Amino acid sequence: QVTGQLQGKTVLITAGPTQERIDPVRYFTNHSSGKMGYALAEAALSQGANVILVSGPTALQPPHGVHVINVVSAKEMFDATMHHFDTANIVIKSAAVADYRPKETFDHKRKKQSGPWAIEMERTTDILKTMGEAKKQQILVGFAAESENVEQYALQKLHSKNLDLIVANNILQEGAGFKGDTNIITLLDKDGMKKEYPVLSKKEAATCIIADVISYIERQQHL
Ligand code: PMT
Repeated sequence: QVTGQLQGKTVLITAGPTQERIDPVRYFTNHSSGKMGYALAEAALSQGANVILVSGPTALQPPHGVHVINVVSAKEMFDATMHHFDTANIVIKSAAVADYRPKETFDHKRKKQSGPWAIEMERTTDILKTMGEAKKQQILVGFAAESENVEQYALQKLHSKNLDLIVANNILQEGAGFKGDTNIITLLDKDGMKKEYPVLSKKEAATCIIADVISYIERQQHL
């Protein structure tokens, strides 16, 4: 028998990078390994949640018992997460989604040519912002990967995307951000709560984030 404070709740989590295709051999991407998102999936699962993990390309093994949907591009991540949005009680967007993709893609490998090659980029759709506009009962948790003015930019994202909570990490800080096994996070909620954590393993950080989301929900229910 599964117990835990998220029993009966569906938690939709995104993890990893997206890859934006140029031609059959080249793409744009970023340094996300998926570790933060997969740790969140495990932490939510251990609280008894039904977990849907929408994952960009990673080298990780998903936790047993999680419903995994593998995607490649920001467009595919958008389609998969929006498809499950209505059934989700909590959405946690730890994926590093590409903000831009090549405007033109090639069916065949583009041959080398003399001189430079300029690639025009177009914006991808902001998944979290779209969810913020569409949300009903869902608790929306975003991440903010910043390299300066971390708290200020995170708060701007929290409000402009209509989020409940945001997890800020300074990607230039030693022990935080992309790829490594640790992170240094600050949680901010829409009611002004701020909680700063020391360097933690991504698994510990995930446990703290899930606990803080549960406390947030409890606080809302007492309003
Ligand atoms: O995967 P790891 O190697 O463990 O690294 C973890 C991490 C650094 C990727 C993670 O902790 C993190 O910060 N994830 C968010 C990365 C990011 O893209 O942040 P952002 O500040 O650019 O975006 C803000 C939020 O909007 C994020 O929740 C992002 O998922 C979301 N977004 C962004 C663009 C877009 N087109 N759609 C989105 O939903």
